Amino acid sequence: MAPKIDTVIIDFEQTSREIMINFLEKVEDINLVQQFSDILAAQDYITENKPPLVIVDISKQTGLSLDIISKLTSSVKNIKIIVLTYDTDSNIVIKSLRAGAREFLIKPLIEQDFIQAVEKMKDLILGNINDTTRCKVITTFSNKGGIGKTSLAVNLAMEIANLTKEKVALVDLNMQMGDITTFLNIEPSFDTSYVINNMDRIDETFLLTTLEQYNKTSLYVLADPPDIEQAEIITSEDITTLINILRNVFSYIIIDTTSSFDSKTITALDNSDLILLVSIINLPSIRNCQRCFELFKKLGYSKDKIKLVINRYMEADDIKIEDVEEVLDHKVFFKIPNNYYTIISSINKGVPVSDAAPNSNICKSFKQMAALVSDSYSYNKNGNHTVQREYGFNFLNLFKKNKGE
Ligand SMILES: Nc1ncnc2c1ncn2[C@@H]1O[C@H](COP(=O)(O)OP(=O)(O)OP(=O)(O)O)[C@@H](O)[C@H]1O
Ligand SMILES: [Mg+2]
Repeated sequence: MAPKIDTVIIDFEQTSREIMINFLEKVEDINLVQQFSDILAAQDYITENKPPLVIVDISKQTGLSLDIISKLTSSVKNIKIIVLTYDTDSNIVIKSLRAGAREFLIKPLIEQDFIQAVEKMKDLILGNINDTTRCKVITTFSNKGGIGKTSLAVNLAMEIANLTKEKVALVDLNMQMGDITTFLNIEPSFDTSYVINNMDRIDETFLLTTLEQYNKTSLYVLADPPDIEQAEIITSEDITTLINILRNVFSYIIIDTTSSFDSKTITALDNSDLILLVSIINLPSIRNCQRCFELFKKLGYSKDKIKLVINRYMEADDIKIEDVEEVLDHKVFFKIPNNYYTIISSINKGVPVSDAAPNSNICKSFKQMAALVSDSYSYNKNGNHTVQREYGFNFLNLFKKNKGE
């Protein structure tokens, strides 16, 4: 039997609360634990008792309600909030999303819509739809330039798309300095600033036509804005909203970042399920990694969220992987071989390495990593990896030792 989901409703109208209670009785496994007439009164209760589902009317004191929702979604882990309002202004939808609400319903409530929204939240809470498998946000980062962040972001995104056939968004957050369009030799008609300026008309069709579909694959690219004025008006809040919106349409979001800890980059890192911290094996780079780990700790990121990726790996390196792991107190998640010739020729041709050199060691390496980070494998009863067969390749072959080209 599924566990009951403790639910709180907040609505200033008693009749509306009664209607909701009536609707909720029709949804299995919902346990109404409290009802409130205003969100201020409910705030302490929710913070203390952490109910997984909160349904709140924000028609009155909208700004204050959204502020409180924002606080609750950041302080109560995994809370799901459904927002209700009489206000049909599309900006309210955006603001609610920004605050972290997961569903938005206009009053007066329609029974079918309400029940559908509650059922959806119930599935998320019970794990019938796993939030992170539905969309995984992966960011490549290093606080040192030229280390291979973009090479990794582009090729990993391409390989995840090839492997899973699911929709992958590749987002360039290197505001006006982005390289993704050069790496893929594309000239998208739209960029991040266009999407952010049109958030009020965003739906799936809009996103799939605004992001640049790459070569008829399931990879979609969102380029950085080409001019500084457009880039500067994008705020950190816009980045959060953008990621939340993309999450609804794409199964994976791969974000390429700058090498600085600016507020937009930190926002992207905050919103990521996985950070691929890229380093090469030399002292300055490893020292920088140490600083990153310190900062990540201060930011409250769990160790699991950060995966250390060694780029340009050569077995003959003076510094051994074990030494790096010891110094950084972090396991190396993946080693990408050094293969300058292949990478540079793919960049110069403006294609991913899977097009430029499909049999190269580095291409195989990106494929392996795509399989690892995309959950495209599962564990069998003995705890060994097994690939899901529909992807049509032999997972174990990917792990055979590559001889560089
Ligand atoms: N595995 C690799 N083997 C050899 N060379 C590599 C590898 N990965 C990247 N490079 C080289 O390193 C250079 C920098 O790569 P890339 O542009 O991906 O780094 P970046 O961290 O995104 O840089 P920036 O900080 O400028 O955005 C590229 O010219 C590329 O040829
Ligand atoms: Mg780059």
